[in-house]
Amino acid sequence: MPATATRRSPLATAYRTHTCGELRDAHAGERVKLAGWVHAYRHQGKGLVFVDLRDRAGLTQVTFDMEDSPADVLEAGSKLRQEDAVSVEGIVRIKESPNPKLPTGKIEVVVESVEVLAKTAPPPLLPSDDDTLPSEEGRLTNRYLDLRRPAMQRILQVRHEVGAIAREYFHSIGFLEVETPILCKSTPEGALDFLVPSRMNPGQWYALPQSPQLFKQILMVAGCDRYFQITKCFRDEDLRADRQPEFTQIDLEMSFVTREDVMRAMEGFARKLWKNVLDVDVPELRRMTYREAMDTYGIDRPDLRYGLELVDVSDIARRTDFKVFTGALEKPRGVVKAIRVPGGSHVLTRKITDGYTEFVKTFGAGGVPVTKVVEGGKLEGGVAKFLEPLATDLIARMGAAPGDTILFGADTYSVVTKSLGELRQKVARDMKLLDAPSAPKWSFLWVVDFPMFEWDAETSRFFAMHHPFTAPSPEDVGRFMAADPREHDTVESIVSAGYDMVVNGSEIGGGSIRIHQQDVQKKVFHLLGISEEEAQAKFSFLLEALRFGAPPHGGIAFGLDRLVMHLAGVDNIRDVIAFPKTQTGADLMCDCPSPVDKAQLDELYIKSTFAG
Ligand code: AMO
Repeated sequence: MPATATRRSPLATAYRTHTCGELRDAHAGERVKLAGWVHAYRHQGKGLVFVDLRDRAGLTQVTFDMEDSPADVLEAGSKLRQEDAVSVEGIVRIKESPNPKLPTGKIEVVVESVEVLAKTAPPPLLPSDDDTLPSEEGRLTNRYLDLRRPAMQRILQVRHEVGAIAREYFHSIGFLEVETPILCKSTPEGALDFLVPSRMNPGQWYALPQSPQLFKQILMVAGCDRYFQITKCFRDEDLRADRQPEFTQIDLEMSFVTREDVMRAMEGFARKLWKNVLDVDVPELRRMTYREAMDTYGIDRPDLRYGLELVDVSDIARRTDFKVFTGALEKPRGVVKAIRVPGGSHVLTRKITDGYTEFVKTFGAGGVPVTKVVEGGKLEGGVAKFLEPLATDLIARMGAAPGDTILFGADTYSVVTKSLGELRQKVARDMKLLDAPSAPKWSFLWVVDFPMFEWDAETSRFFAMHHPFTAPSPEDVGRFMAADPREHDTVESIVSAGYDMVVNGSEIGGGSIRIHQQDVQKKVFHLLGISEEEAQAKFSFLLEALRFGAPPHGGIAFGLDRLVMHLAGVDNIRDVIAFPKTQTGADLMCDCPSPVDKAQLDELYIKSTFAG
C-alpha cells in the first residue's frame, strides 16, 4: 500500500517526486520517483542490485531485489551501467546498514518500476571516479561529463551563491543593476583588446570591453548614484593559473563618495560572502601601503598567513668585502635583503637551496647566498665565512635562532624585491607553512597608496598603475597638477587614490576614486604621453561627460572567478568556470578558435595574411 506523500518537493517534475539528495528516514514507506544518472552499481549475487542514483542534489541508493521488484524490473536494473539516465519509482525503506557518509544514507528506494531515459555510450571519464580522471585536456573536451562530477557541481553551486549574495547585498544598499555593452570602444586595462569587425561599417571595429570602466563612470555622470553589474570582461594577455581571457567581474561604482565610503561598502560585501558561504567571520581588514608591501613582502599582494619577511640588511652588509654584497651595493638603488626561515636548516637541504639560485635567475637575480644559524651566535655553511664579522649584528637584526636559515638577495631594489618576493612564496611551500594546523586560514587586507604611474624603460614611457581614470590621492593633487613628465622621480612619487583587496596573496578586487574633472583627466593623458588628438579620438565621450557636473565617484571590481576559487578552495581558475579556455585560449569542447569560411571574411572586408 503506497503511503501518503509528505510535502511535495519544490523540485518535483513529471519524472521525479524528489531529488536524489532529499529523502530521509522521515520518508520511510512513501512511494517516490527519482530521476538521475547511474553513479555506481553493485550486483550482489543473484536477485539483488544496488544502484547509486545521482543528480545535482546528491546520491540515493536504489535497490532492485527479487522479493520486492518485479522480475522484468530486476532484469532491467541488472543491465544498468554507469551514466545511463534513468527514472525509478518505488518505496522508501530504512536501510539495514546505513551509510553515514551520505545525507540520504539512512534510506534506500526499493524499485518497483524503472524507465531507462537514455543509455550511455562508454563514457571517456566517470563522474564517480575522481582518482582516475583523464588529463585536463580530456576533462575540458568532455566538459558535459566533467561537470557532472559532484566536485564540479559543488563549485557551480558556490559560484551561483556568490552571484546571488552579491545581488542581494548590493540591492540592499541601493545599487542599481545596469548592463553595459559588449560591443564597444577600447577600455584600456593594460591588456590587448579582442576586436570584432563591423559588417555594416566596413573597415571599422568594435573592441570587447576589458572592463566596463568608462561606462560605469558615465553612469555616475548620468545620475545612477550606485551601479552594479556581474559582467564578462575580455583581455588578450598571457594566461596564468588565476587569469582567463574571458572572465567575470562583480563591477561597482558609487557617487558622492570618498575612498573610505567605497572601502567600507566593499569590505561589508567580502564579510557577508565569507560568512554566508563558509561561515567564516572576517575581521576588519588591515591596510598596508604599497611601499610597505613591496619593501617587506616583495609583492603588492602579500600573503600574510606566514612570516618570512624581507629585511633590509644593506647597512650591515656594507661592512664586508663579500663581492656579491659589495657589488650589489655599488649599483644604483643597490640593496641587500634577507629572509629568516625559522627551523629552515632542518628542512632546506643543500639541494633545495641550490634550486633557489636557479629559481631566482628567472627574475633577473644572480643567485641566493645562504647561511645557517648555529649555537653560540654563529653562522655556519654557505656564505658564513664571508659574514663572520657581521654574524652578531645580522643575527640580531633578523631575530634569528639556532636552526634558522638565512637567505639573501643582493642586487638592485627592483630585482631583490621581485626575486625574494617570489622566493618567499616558494619557501613557504617548501617549509609547508600553510599546512601547519596553527597556520591562519585567511589573510585579508587592503593595499593602498599605490604610485599613480610606473615608468617602463622598454617603451620609455609611463603607464598608469591602475588605469588612466584613477584620481591622484587628495594630498597629492597639487603636486600632480604641477608635475612635468620629464621629471621622472616626481611623477613616480605621486600617490593614487587606488586600492586593492587581497586575500591569501591573491588580488580579488581593485578599484579607485576616479577623476571627475576634465583638466585633471587631461593632465593624466599628458603625463602618459597621450596626445590631445589621441585622447579625443579614444575618450572624447568621457572628456565631454566630465564637462557637465560630474559627481565625485569611485568604485571597484571584484574578480568573481577568483572569489569562487577561494570560497570553493581550488587553485585553478578553469575549475570555477563552466566552459573555460586553456592556457592557449582554446575552448576544447567547441574546438574554437577555428578557421572561418573565406565568404564570411569577404563579407567583413577582411583578407587574412596568415600563411600557415
Ligand atoms: P582590475 O584590472 O584590477 O580593475 O580588475 C579587477 C579584478 O578582476 C580580476 N581580474 C581577472 N580575473 C581573471 N582573469 C583575468 N584576466 C583578470 N584580470 C583581472 C582581479 C582583479 O582584482 N576597471 C577596474 C576596476 C575599477 O577600477 O573599478 C578593473 O578592471 O580579481
